Amino acid sequence: MNSYQNRETPQTEQKIVLTVANVVKYYESGGRKFEVLKKIHFSAVAGKMYAIMGPSGAGKSTFLNVIGGLDRFDSGSIRVFGQELFGLRPAVLAQYRNRHIGFVFQAHNLLAEFSAQENVAMPLRIRRRSRREALATARAILEEVGLGHRMEHRPSELSGGECQRVSVARALVTDPSLILADEPTGNLDQENSEHLMSLLLDLQRKRQKTVILVTHDASLAARADSIYQMVDGAFAGKELTE
Ligand SMILES: Nc1ncnc2c1ncn2[C@@H]1O[C@H](COP(=O)(O)OP(=O)(O)OP(=O)(O)O)[C@@H](O)[C@H]1O
Ligand SMILES: [Mg+2]
Repeated sequence: MNSYQNRETPQTEQKIVLTVANVVKYYESGGRKFEVLKKIHFSAVAGKMYAIMGPSGAGKSTFLNVIGGLDRFDSGSIRVFGQELFGLRPAVLAQYRNRHIGFVFQAHNLLAEFSAQENVAMPLRIRRRSRREALATARAILEEVGLGHRMEHRPSELSGGECQRVSVARALVTDPSLILADEPTGNLDQENSEHLMSLLLDLQRKRQKTVILVTHDASLAARADSIYQMVDGAFAGKELTE
């Protein structure tokens, strides 16, 4: 192989994990229908991080929710790992979500009465893994995110940054290929935001995950492989950072 061929894998040879084409979604409120996603196109390859920015109300969270199978859409196509999401029954959609997607939200959504370790083990318990196995896996991943010493703490006994790291651990415990993060640093200070971003980047690179990150923070977005701007329900353009 000559040096030119060696330099970079062409786009076409990279593994496409997500293709979004012509996706339209309406919301109805007060008897009126409005188009929140307007013929969206997007694609993502394995092992890359994509940042989505854009004004409040542009449709960023709605977009993540339809990709993740948390919300339905009205027309168009979303293919994830070859599976078409359009028209899937709720039970099949839930199965898809459980198998492939890890969500990290702005609010950590941890269960208050459970320890960090039990919270992280929860998705595995839902998958009917034994308690012993689920807790052992949770322990390993909490150690990986630097929280081995906080395993027994409940969310109220953890800092905001630690809670977000626990929720990243919880999103990763089922080993999803696609991680959808909706302003995961929205409630964190600069230092904790940096820490969480480094963690996401590290996991993405080490484990070849695809990450789609919605953020209002341009300096965090700049660390992704590509930045997309969503304006009024559509992507306004793509900026490559590499
Ligand atoms: N369940 C709903 N019913 C009706 N309208 C909704 C619903 N959820 C969101 N919307 C509207 O859809 C639009 C897009 O909302 P979305 O939450 O996707 O925006 P966003 O880009 O994530 O904004 P932010 O940066 O503030 O989080 C907004 O105008 C919002 O008011
Ligand atoms: Mg949002």
